[in-house]
Amino acid sequence: MASQREQFGSRIGFILATAGSAVGIGNLVGFPVNATKNGGGAFLLLYAVFVLFICLPVMMAELAAGRHTQKNPLTTYDVISSNSKRWHIAGWLSVITPFMIAVFYSVITLWILGYLSAIVTGNLNLLGSPEYFSTFINSKSVFSYLIGVSLFVGGVLFFGVKDGIERGAKIMMPMLFIMLIGLVIFVLTRENAMAGVKYFLIPDLSKIDAKVINSAMAQAFFSLSLGMGILITYGSYMKRTTSIAYSAKMVALADTGIAFTAGLLVLPAIFSFNPDTNPAELSDSSIALIFTFLPKIFIAMQASIGYFGASAIAAVFFLLVLVAALTSLISIIEVPVCAVIDNKNVSRPKALICVGMAIILVAIFCTISFGMSEFFTNLLSYGGADKSFFDLVIDIFYDTILPLNGLAICALVIFRWKKSGLNTELECGDDNFKGSLTERYLNFSLTTFIPLILLFVFINTALNKFWGISLI
Ligand code: TRP
Repeated sequence: MASQREQFGSRIGFILATAGSAVGIGNLVGFPVNATKNGGGAFLLLYAVFVLFICLPVMMAELAAGRHTQKNPLTTYDVISSNSKRWHIAGWLSVITPFMIAVFYSVITLWILGYLSAIVTGNLNLLGSPEYFSTFINSKSVFSYLIGVSLFVGGVLFFGVKDGIERGAKIMMPMLFIMLIGLVIFVLTRENAMAGVKYFLIPDLSKIDAKVINSAMAQAFFSLSLGMGILITYGSYMKRTTSIAYSAKMVALADTGIAFTAGLLVLPAIFSFNPDTNPAELSDSSIALIFTFLPKIFIAMQASIGYFGASAIAAVFFLLVLVAALTSLISIIEVPVCAVIDNKNVSRPKALICVGMAIILVAIFCTISFGMSEFFTNLLSYGGADKSFFDLVIDIFYDTILPLNGLAICALVIFRWKKSGLNTELECGDDNFKGSLTERYLNFSLTTFIPLILLFVFINTALNKFWGISLI
């Protein structure tokens, strides 16, 4: 007899775990800087509109599909499409995508762990030198940090949905929140901090063009864990007595709220310690910001709070980013693990070891693609630039494929599951859903303009990344 599927124990547990998945490095650093460079308050408003009107419906559809089939994404596509071959490909994509995201996200996470340990061992001042980052990522020590990250994530996943993922989120999410608020209070009480807040909040409509709209849309989409198979998987662990609409709204609110709050930390910190910063010159890359730019800000804090104080603040910041990254990593690795458990009928520990080993292997290819291995470092050249294996993985799986996976979910609802199927699932555990505005909006948007927008974002990003062509 098949054993019962694991489930989240409570609604709040589900919301925390899913918010933990959604909140990541992008929320804490990428979002605030992107918003500041691209119109401040005007960007924030645009982003909120995208979250509410485009991302939330896709989120609810993914959760509902997973809860309906009680299976991983691959099987979910099979079940809803009645085993169609074509849909099977979409199913595979939604398992391979999280696998590959897990690969490069593990690499970034291990770097964060490396920086955190440098700071707590008294070496904050080293992080400011221009060569530190490239020397560090090419040093042998990265492999020990990779082992550290793998053991932690593996350890949480080993205990399963309720005792591992949910319990972990219940500890780590409040921790994340407290560290974030603590840092915000510290930074806002510094001199000049308000200059940063102004840049972040005051709307500048002149910056809003088609490119900014496209990037706000893409950012909102990936920030909410959409198109990664995570929500289908977590949906399959949701109780039928829980309202999907309510839970999804809370997750979106938490994710956006944390991204917004991080803006009150990062921008004031930058402006307080370097009042002449020109926001337009801040890097677009979260990686460059975290590993080369922000350490300089922390080092500059020495002047007012001493080396120990600056190290303490830097340590809390890197711990905050580490916790955010770990909760995301946990959720994304659960997707292939769940697919193996469901389809190969093996136990969780066995599935975890197979998937974990495979991720570590490919993560090692990424790790050595910054100079250690000539082959992986100069793998390809496209879109007018030389690309390493690490770049290739990010370009394909993070930047390009997510909207395509979102489109696939919309298409599955339109052509196979039908609105009635979706509505029936969303009505479970939610007495107010039938006939509600949310239901009507979902039915309309998911079958009309949302797939068109996702198609456009996908095509535009693919042309841009791989051929250097921009449609807008
Ligand atoms: N918001 C995340 C970030 O900023 C993006 C993300 C969502 C993510 N879900 C994830 C990243 C799962 C890795 C794994 O980084």
